[in-house]
Amino acid sequence: MRLKGKHIILGLTGSIAAYKAAYLLRGLVKEGAEVQVVMTPAAKEFITPVTMSALSGRPVASEFFAANDGTWHSHVDMGQWADLMLIAPVTAATLGKMAHGIADNLLVTTYMSAKCPVYLAPAMDLDMFKHPSTLQNLEILRSFGNVILEPGEGELASGLHGKGRMQEPEQLVEEVVTFFNSKKKLLNKKVLVTAGPTFEKIDPVRFIGNYSSGKMGFALAEELAEAGASVTLVTGPVSLATTHPSIQRIDVESAAEMHQACLDLFSGVDAAIMCAAVADYRPKHAADQKIKRTAADMQIDLEATADIAASLGQLKTDKQLLVGFALETNDEKQNALGKMQKKNLDFIVLNSLQDAGAGFGGNTNKITILSKDNNAQEFELKHKREVAADIVGKLIQELAKL
Ligand code: CTP
Repeated sequence: MRLKGKHIILGLTGSIAAYKAAYLLRGLVKEGAEVQVVMTPAAKEFITPVTMSALSGRPVASEFFAANDGTWHSHVDMGQWADLMLIAPVTAATLGKMAHGIADNLLVTTYMSAKCPVYLAPAMDLDMFKHPSTLQNLEILRSFGNVILEPGEGELASGLHGKGRMQEPEQLVEEVVTFFNSKKKLLNKKVLVTAGPTFEKIDPVRFIGNYSSGKMGFALAEELAEAGASVTLVTGPVSLATTHPSIQRIDVESAAEMHQACLDLFSGVDAAIMCAAVADYRPKHAADQKIKRTAADMQIDLEATADIAASLGQLKTDKQLLVGFALETNDEKQNALGKMQKKNLDFIVLNSLQDAGAGFGGNTNKITILSKDNNAQEFELKHKREVAADIVGKLIQELAKL
């Protein structure tokens, strides 16, 4: 009974793979889970609500109102009740609705009200799966933090052979068990994350900045919070929102403000991840008034900012971990190892600008994690949220060694 007492919403959509949902539901219930089934109208064409309610021991929710007595099925209550929402099978149509907020059925409204993690097991024909609209929608859903349980290759209902086959019910039950076992490994841990660029003032209307979007740092903060940590996110100016209740956000502008915030916080945390692209230099004097265009040339004298990672490295105790990033264009590993040593980091995440899809701005990243023991772990190009999961995985391993 590995899922005893767990509340799961099982969503079903109109795919031929819906018949497998009966086996999936039976597997979840056998493990002790309490399962509320929510079906789209199309799902009912493939498997009957009677089968699903008999197996779950609960009425199936499908319409906003019960036609006979007017009872309202509250998607908000269901969304708050669940520890996990699993939609299996999920069709291309429902993926599209979820990605774009088209809340025209009870399943999508429940999804949008869900406070819990969401797992999606797509099932469709191979050409629909590889259509750019499906791939884009999956990308959007990943950026919301939803987990895609990739379909396998095999024989499809159309008779064709390819990718689009929903994972088997037993595999899906194992995914759910793993989710509940691996979750919350950072409970009671406090983690500081820096993110985004810093802006260094030239005059009241101008600054020196950089192209950092903050996406990697925000993805890390979300992933850490999902793992149970309480996170303080010190961020430079970015246009991103934080939603997780375990993330406390502190907005700063300059390297000096970020430095001060980190110094104030560091002694109270178990780990710090320095993901911000901090300016290395700032104007020596910021003008009080807007600088006028006068001469043909002008110079701005710059001075070095504090190296935040290095100053935390000096304060670090042997009960704390410090993680840095290195964005390099050449001699990548050597430069990153040098930074790790100089700043007294425990491990460093290297992204090379020579790798397509890595670095600032985009939604993907390709990293290598270099550790003090000279171990280099290379990862493939992934969505930043998945990259964050790899980094958090490494952090969990290293914290366990302290
Ligand atoms: N960092 C920091 N404070 C700074 C500069 C960098 O905390 N003033 C942190 C970054 O957040 C990152 C790591 O140090 O985790 C490396 O940043 P990077 O800019 O690559 O290194 P620098 O030491 O500035 O080296 P350089 O720019 O010369 O490559």
